[in-house]
Amino acid sequence: MTVDGKTAPASRKGRLFTPMMSEELVKRLHMLRADVDAVLVGLGTVLEDDPKLTVRAVQGKNPIRIVLDSKATIPLDSEVLDVGEAPTIVAVCDNADAVRVDRLVWKGVEVIRCKCDGRIDLKLLLEELYRRGIRRMLVEGGSEVRWGIIREGLVDEVFIWIAPYIWGGRDAPTMVGGEGFQNIDSAFNLKLKNLEVVDGTVILHYVALK
Ligand SMILES: NC(=O)c1ccc[n+]([C@@H]2O[C@H](COP(=O)([O-])OP(=O)(O)OC[C@H]3O[C@@H](n4cnc5c(N)ncnc54)[C@H](OP(=O)(O)O)[C@@H]3O)[C@@H](O)[C@H]2O)c1
Repeated sequence: MTVDGKTAPASRKGRLFTPMMSEELVKRLHMLRADVDAVLVGLGTVLEDDPKLTVRAVQGKNPIRIVLDSKATIPLDSEVLDVGEAPTIVAVCDNADAVRVDRLVWKGVEVIRCKCDGRIDLKLLLEELYRRGIRRMLVEGGSEVRWGIIREGLVDEVFIWIAPYIWGGRDAPTMVGGEGFQNIDSAFNLKLKNLEVVDGTVILHYVALK
């Protein structure tokens, strides 16, 4: 995020972060991906940024890409659906349109039908992913998904990268969106484990206090 907490400019194109990142920072990001079994994003991130979510800047195994997409509306030409690059799971609600789900399956994407209460039940999804052997997962974004996963208490570690820019914009996404906690007692509490500065970007590594 920028110094003012924005994870994309007001245009919502988070991809604009990439030219602001040094080669070393891109390597660090790809090292994080290579170190986990899966990377998770929400549909909003796919629609805005169309990321590949693969490991390219360092040697390492691609993680399984997971997209939260309640209604199975992800565009079929999304980069993340190219299963020739890496395996992909799309998590949908159990009432998602069968034709849309079939189209994903024909592309070679694995679809997990989830219990939903408006949105995908993240606790049940993570239990299912655990049964499939996924032990470490990196949640890359965006703001709504980060809120969902924090609200459910499903986070063990947090990496915050603060880039030396200010974007402003009242509608620009911030690190965590959603409804937010209503009082200070329920705030998500972290303990700082490490701090370093890489090419002017501050990298904070926290562990969650549960
Ligand atoms: N700088 C960074 O590190 C970074 C990283 C990633 C993204 N971004 C930026 O973040 C923005 C996208 O973030 P966003 O908040 O709009 O979208 P998002 O968090 O990527 O995706 C949210 C969508 O995921 C689906 N979803 C399904 N189940 C969910 C659940 N339990 N909890 C939360 N979401 C669930 C919902 O769509 P359905 O109801 O249709 O399922 C929801 O609207 C973009 O501007 C992108 O550029 C920045």
